[in-house]
Amino acid sequence: MSTSDPSVFGLIGLGVMGRNFILNVAEKGFSALGYDLDPEKVAALEEAGAQTGRVKATTDLATFVSGLERPRRIMLLVPAGNPVDAVIESLLPHLEKGDIVVDGGNSHYRDTDRREASLATAGIHFFGAGVSGGAEGARRGPSIMPGGSRDAYAYLKPVFEAVAARYDDTPCVAYLGAKSAGNYVKMVHNGIEYALMQAIAEVYDVLRRAGKWDNPSLARLFDTWNQGRLQSFLVEITAEIFAQPDPYGTGELLDHILDKAKQKGTGKWTSQDALDLGIPVPALDASVSMRQISALKALREKAEPLFPAPEGSVLEADTLAAEAEAALYFAFVMAYAQGMHLLAEASETYGYELDLAEIATIWRAGCIIRAGLLASITEAYRENADLENLILAPGFARDLRESLPRVRSFVSLGVQSGIPLSVIGGSLSYFDAMRSGRLPLNLVQAQRDFFGAHTYERTDRDGTFHTEWQ
Ligand code: 6PG
Repeated sequence: MSTSDPSVFGLIGLGVMGRNFILNVAEKGFSALGYDLDPEKVAALEEAGAQTGRVKATTDLATFVSGLERPRRIMLLVPAGNPVDAVIESLLPHLEKGDIVVDGGNSHYRDTDRREASLATAGIHFFGAGVSGGAEGARRGPSIMPGGSRDAYAYLKPVFEAVAARYDDTPCVAYLGAKSAGNYVKMVHNGIEYALMQAIAEVYDVLRRAGKWDNPSLARLFDTWNQGRLQSFLVEITAEIFAQPDPYGTGELLDHILDKAKQKGTGKWTSQDALDLGIPVPALDASVSMRQISALKALREKAEPLFPAPEGSVLEADTLAAEAEAALYFAFVMAYAQGMHLLAEASETYGYELDLAEIATIWRAGCIIRAGLLASITEAYRENADLENLILAPGFARDLRESLPRVRSFVSLGVQSGIPLSVIGGSLSYFDAMRSGRLPLNLVQAQRDFFGAHTYERTDRDGTFHTEWQ
């Protein structure tokens, strides 16, 4: 490449994610140009990319934009929120009709819709593309979830397909739909991520507190699980976490990490939108609530001596391990079931025309929620694109039926031992509700009519009824 040749791909924001992503692009054979206001980040990228001979970087926006092949392909990897608007504003005077701007951050889908509509008036194509896999994924192959103009995607496709993770030689990226479809799918991915993480934490809590398992035994158990139907990135890294020694003393690092979990908001957004769309995602909601409860440490510590934990029964180690495995598998299926259900409804409401099988396909590698289970989820939606809920898919129905006795026993142990199982226990209640043809909500309707004359329907005749309750 001569130094004056325009670059194929531009990237704004050379933090760790941005630098890794652009190095990945260059390594796949595309010339790439980076931009950041920070000269140190620019220098770091040029140094790291020197051996590819395809990476340049600048602190000057005009040089950056004029150094790109047309139509320009510019990806933003900057923090979500105001920084995205600020970058777009500074970029806009330099852009031309037909240019493509991709926001690769965790932006709220409504922001993406607003930006897409505003840039469309200038003839600029705007994409919201969720990128999952963290810094390592960006470097070695992330899962990419793009949404925007279908025609403009043709320009992004070769680059994205080359850099994405691969599963059975299929790239983990696909055009997902118009406008904010990509950000929406990434948001739900993160909601599922929260639920899987919390379910793992709950299993850890029961094994540790009720089963008295130590970290090395937990590391071995999770490692074994990762060879079976629980095979997943999160189970794999959890096994490694249990084995990590504490750099400041003896024992494992995990025991010294403060139990207050932070969040950047994508899990909360998923729950907020699910409430608006009327789709129950209690496992996702509970995982957000548990992060909030974790933050209330001072309050928890005040309450602890008032309510000592009960002694639960002690199970033989193999039995407890088998129950924990079933409970975690069950909670995993429920988290994906709820997330997919939400995506189906969002697709209808927002007109995304999502292909749920394809979404499961691109989650099979690269992203944080990648799991062996996603191959079966892909199959379930390929067999029936209109599947209302994963619990109705024959393969999953069979597995769930088979797992249920152990799941119930595990949840009972948690309840008896006073160990919170918001996601696993909540998932069991969700499942029991979803498999109940009749729920006690006839009583709720009666109460509503009693105090507010809100009326009710009957099971045996048409119409709307009101009673003057005594
Ligand atoms: C991913 C992750 C990534 C990020 C989360 C963390 O898919 O690579 O989801 O986007 O690690 O947003 O979210 P919290 O800080 O809210 O836990």
